[in-house]
Amino acid sequence: MRNLNIIAILMVMSLLFASCGGKNTPAANGEAPKSMLGPKTENEKMIADGRGIGEVKSVTLNTPLEQERVKRGQDIYDMKCSACHKLTDERFVGPGWKGVTSRRKPEWIMNMVTNVDVMLERDAEAQKLLELCLTRMPNQNVSIGDARDILEFMRSNDGEK
Ligand code: HEC
Repeated sequence: MRNLNIIAILMVMSLLFASCGGKNTPAANGEAPKSMLGPKTENEKMIADGRGIGEVKSVTLNTPLEQERVKRGQDIYDMKCSACHKLTDERFVGPGWKGVTSRRKPEWIMNMVTNVDVMLERDAEAQKLLELCLTRMPNQNVSIGDARDILEFMRSNDGEK
């Protein structure tokens, strides 16, 4: 009887799988359809080359620094980040920001700031920080533009001109 139930469940599951597969209907062997694997593969590529996971795929950094951005980034830091992050290399609730722009790619930093929940779930480097800090960084609805300003402020904090 139990075996029959399991077979019934498996049949329903394979129907469900087939119905969302569209043109890339999976083979009956239970392989996930290509349409499900596609986006994940791109994300995995991002993670593998240290850009994290999120909307930010590539960032252009200019020299000299854009001072307007530095100033706006500092204001955001004061309001939304300074409760947990110091500007030295000292860990507080979260890691100190000194050196963060050489430890991380700019894309990783911006994705961490704008997409922290997914980063903590999927990016091994972010997960290591969570293990170290034992507190989840909260999602604070930082826009991509604000994250870019914060990045410029971080570069300035790391001594770039
Ligand atoms: C409530 C505390 C808290 C606040 C507020 C906070 N963070 Fe964090 N942040 C953390 C913690 C804790 C981590 C380590 C990852 C984790 O445990 O979630 C972290 C990690 C980071 C990292 C990765 C640092 C590294 O060394 O790689 C960046 C970048 C970052 N935060 C940026 C920000 C920015 C920008 C803000 C403000 C908009 C902010 N954080 C606000 C707690 C916080």
